[in-house]
Amino acid sequence: MHPVAISSRMSRVVLKLGGGLITDKSRYRHVRTDRIDAVSSVVRELRDSGQSVVLVHGAGSFGHLEARKWGLADGIDDESHESQIRAISRVRADMDDLNRAVIESLSRAGVDCETLPPRDWAIGVGTEFEGDLGGFVRDPDEPIPVTFGDVVDTSDGSKFGILSGDHIMVRLGCEMPDVTACAFLLGDVDGLMDKPPGELDSTLLRTWSSEQGFSGSHDLDHDVTGGILLKAGCASEIARCVEQVWLLNGAVPRRVLGVVSHSDVVGTRILH
Ligand code: IPE
Repeated sequence: MHPVAISSRMSRVVLKLGGGLITDKSRYRHVRTDRIDAVSSVVRELRDSGQSVVLVHGAGSFGHLEARKWGLADGIDDESHESQIRAISRVRADMDDLNRAVIESLSRAGVDCETLPPRDWAIGVGTEFEGDLGGFVRDPDEPIPVTFGDVVDTSDGSKFGILSGDHIMVRLGCEMPDVTACAFLLGDVDGLMDKPPGELDSTLLRTWSSEQGFSGSHDLDHDVTGGILLKAGCASEIARCVEQVWLLNGAVPRRVLGVVSHSDVVGTRILH
C-alpha cells in the first residue's frame, strides 16, 4: 500500500464517523469494532502522509435510542424532568464508552488522540452553537482531536438539547484554516442514492447539490437528530467553504485516501 500523495502545503481533513457505521443502530450499545479499526488504519495513513486530521463521531445506538425515549432533543419537559436528568447522565456515559472504543482503536493503530467532549466546550444546538473551536486546530504531529454528538446545555428555556456531530462538522469545516476535505462516513451505503437505499433500482448519485432536492428516507425509528437528510444538508453547507466534501461508504474507508489524492472515488461529491 502506498501512502497518500499530498501537496507540500498544510492540509486538514475532517471526518465524521456516522453512528450507523460504528454501531449497530438497532441494538442498544452495540459497537462495531471492525468498522472502527478499518477507519483507524486509514487515519494512521493520513497522519503519516502529513495531513492534520480531525475526527467527529456519531452516537448510533449509544445515543439515539435513549435520547428519543426521553425526548432529550426537545429540551426540558416539566413532567419527566427527573427522568430526563437521569437519561442525560446515561446518554453521556454511553457516549463516553463509545468514544473510548474509538480512542482505543486509534491507539491500537498507533494514532495519539485527545477527546474534546461537546458538553465541556459547547452551548446550544444546531450550527449556531456557541463554543471555542480553537482546540481543534492542530499541527499534523500533535494528538488528533476527537469529538462527538452529545447532550449539551442550551442558553434558552429548553435547558439542554442534542448537538449533532453533523452540525459540529459544519463549524469545523467552515471555520478551521486549511481544510481541504470533509467526509461523512456512512454505514452500508456508498453515498446518497436517488431513492431510499432499500429499493432495488436505487443508484448512487455521483454528485449532489442541495438544489437537486432529495427523496431519501428519514429513519424516524432511531434518529433524534435527522439521519441522512441532516448529513446531506450539513455537507452542502460545508461545500460553500471546502472544495472536497463527500458522503462515502465508511465500510470501505480507503475511499477517503482517494478523495485526498484526487483519484476517482466511489461516493457522492457534494457540490455547492
Ligand atoms: C447524536 O449525534 C448524539 C446523541 C444522540 C447523543 P449524531 O447526530 O452526530 O449521531 P449519528 O451519527 O446520527 O449517530
